[in-house]
Amino acid sequence: MLKSPFTARTRDGHVLTSRHQVGSQGAHSSTPQHWASHTFRKQTSTVRFSYIFSSKRSLFATHANDDNAAIYSEDPTLYDLAFSFRDFSQEVDFLLEAAAQRSATGKPPAVLELAAGPGRHAIEFARRGLEVVALDCEESMVELGRQRAKEAGVELKYVKADMSDFDAVPTQDGKVSLACLLLGSSCHLLTNDAIIACFKSTASVLAKDGVFVVECPHPNEVFGVGDMTGDAWDVERGDETLLVEWGREGDYFDPITQVLERTVGFSMLGKDGAVLSSREDIVKQRLSTAVEIDALARASGLQVDGFYGSMDLAIPLDMEDEAFRMVVVMRPSDGEL
Ligand SMILES: C[S@@+](CC[C@H](N)C(=O)[O-])C[C@H]1O[C@@H](n2cnc3c(N)ncnc32)[C@H](O)[C@@H]1O
Repeated sequence: MLKSPFTARTRDGHVLTSRHQVGSQGAHSSTPQHWASHTFRKQTSTVRFSYIFSSKRSLFATHANDDNAAIYSEDPTLYDLAFSFRDFSQEVDFLLEAAAQRSATGKPPAVLELAAGPGRHAIEFARRGLEVVALDCEESMVELGRQRAKEAGVELKYVKADMSDFDAVPTQDGKVSLACLLLGSSCHLLTNDAIIACFKSTASVLAKDGVFVVECPHPNEVFGVGDMTGDAWDVERGDETLLVEWGREGDYFDPITQVLERTVGFSMLGKDGAVLSSREDIVKQRLSTAVEIDALARASGLQVDGFYGSMDLAIPLDMEDEAFRMVVVMRPSDGEL
């Protein structure tokens, strides 16, 4: 079984496994009946392969974003709530340290967050007084991010754009020295073409001593050899509880394109456990290996400067028990590769 490219961890660092919960009341154990009884049968791989090979276009060359997921567009607050338990301040500390280590000037960086969604990292950067640009292709996410920035009382520029098709950023000097693409958002780039287009776009606005940090699923998950993630949890909001399902056993993974069709479910329960709303989507995600990211960086005018196993400079990618993500720090190529 391929597990989620997402690992839920509590603030004290414990990994949450399937059916653990993240609500403010602590861990619970029950899974509501209606939720456990979801069924979704995949088509057989034969059907899938015949579809792919009958397609006129190249197997590996499709546009990045002809298929953005409804989970982002229809009610972006549910996505935001589902992933709100992360420690954004600690993650921003890590990103700033990664940039500072490689900075030639030591100046605070101008920051670009790609696929920023509700913009929680971007807002945290702005809180620290940095010049920040957030980018997302989804109108409703852009609106939510702008609204959240306003509520937080911070200044940031939030632009609607495709992360694989931009060539300018509205910063003072038109450059950024820290760009980031977090929480597996790179998986929305389904093909090598799309990933290279995104990396090249980013390289075009990156200062010479700038860094581009991409957080992806750990290779153990890409190859299905590790069991380090949670794929179901819940989050409380007042009297309501959001049940999140992020991947399901049997989700179809195409070994040729490396695209996983992840089942994502959001169910909101009221105080008495009654279902207030429920939705289920299939989200396509391209899973990339470490060596692919290295090669794609080289093809884009970038080079990998470090692989980490978490948003933590002290955790290398292969650190047993601690590494659970693949966090790649890239910088502009020095031309020597
Ligand atoms: C998993 S969410 C991540 C949001 C945020 N970075 C976070 O850490 O919570 C992925 C986001 O990527 C956006 N997205 C997907 N494809 C995109 C593309 N081609 N260009 C820009 N944004 C994209 C979605 O709209 C969504 O907001």
